[in-house]
Amino acid sequence: MKTLDSIDKTSMRDMTAKFPSMLRLDVFPESIRYEAEKVKLKGVGGICITGMGGSGIAGEICKALMADVSEIPIVSNREYSLPRHVTKEWVVIAVSYSGETEETLSAFDVARHRGCRTFALTTGGRLAVKADVKKTTTLPAGLQPRAALPVIFSGLLPLLELLIGTERSDLISIADALERLQPDWNGASLMPEELAAELQNKIPWFIGWKHLVPVAYRAKCQFNENSKIFASSSEIPEIYHNEIEGTLSCRNHPVSPVFLRSREEDEKTRNGFESAAAIFEENGCHPEHLNFRFDSRIEEALGFTMYLDRVSVMLAEILGVDPLSVERIAQLKRRLRD
Ligand code: PA5
Repeated sequence: MKTLDSIDKTSMRDMTAKFPSMLRLDVFPESIRYEAEKVKLKGVGGICITGMGGSGIAGEICKALMADVSEIPIVSNREYSLPRHVTKEWVVIAVSYSGETEETLSAFDVARHRGCRTFALTTGGRLAVKADVKKTTTLPAGLQPRAALPVIFSGLLPLLELLIGTERSDLISIADALERLQPDWNGASLMPEELAAELQNKIPWFIGWKHLVPVAYRAKCQFNENSKIFASSSEIPEIYHNEIEGTLSCRNHPVSPVFLRSREEDEKTRNGFESAAAIFEENGCHPEHLNFRFDSRIEEALGFTMYLDRVSVMLAEILGVDPLSVERIAQLKRRLRD
């Protein structure tokens, strides 16, 4: 199995800096490819990816990346059970870095009970015991689950691409491109340390469109878990119908909107972002527009993720909190288990 020897697992800063190296690990074993091909031949009614927190986000991002490509439904599940429409014609992929997450284990049992074909991605734990070894991708251990996103992604994306019957993405070239992004961040309007300083004592509000919607959500979670602050995320164009009204109270709350701008925006979307920004400004709320030059949709989703992961760790350093520890998550998990 490929390892993570060069990564300092006691440093979240190092883990976020090694994002491209982790993606390059490309954990998609031949055995899984073989099993997935067999499953595909029998027909796939839909794909449900089930996982929580840092393990769930790879599924959210993959689902969004495939929305325009897949002819079969792909859903992401963050529950103890599965939606009723997930029947035995479906494939269920359980992702849990620890292999010990209650909700994921329970959803996996439901999938088995319904006769769904199942795959698992995990470092071990009870999930590895429950799952079929031939359909389990063993992830390298020792990371924080949320820092393992690129490794999980490198195992999940090719599995999905195979199941939906689309061409396999070249993750090594994408990892190379992400490597080149650092340290000057490809002409970004703000360096990570500048954005971190700007977000100090603020409630960051990440706003994305299409495949950048789960990236905005990922950023929210990283600021919760790494920087230990409240944060929010929303999506374009939905904000035009609700949150836009909330900007009336911008002057009373330290909200700091961050717009994730995509290279794929059409005129209508560009116009929407700009019009929303104008209303935000009129209400005393200055949005940051993050722009990067990326070559592909996947590169864009992962590049933004890598950049915002870095900002969350820098903010943790400014605030003097430990980005590694997740004491309250562990505490809650203990309470749910006992
Ligand atoms: O990032 C984290 O530590 C959490 O969000 C975990 O990912 C979450 O609690 C689920 O655990 P696991 O990823 O081990 O299934």
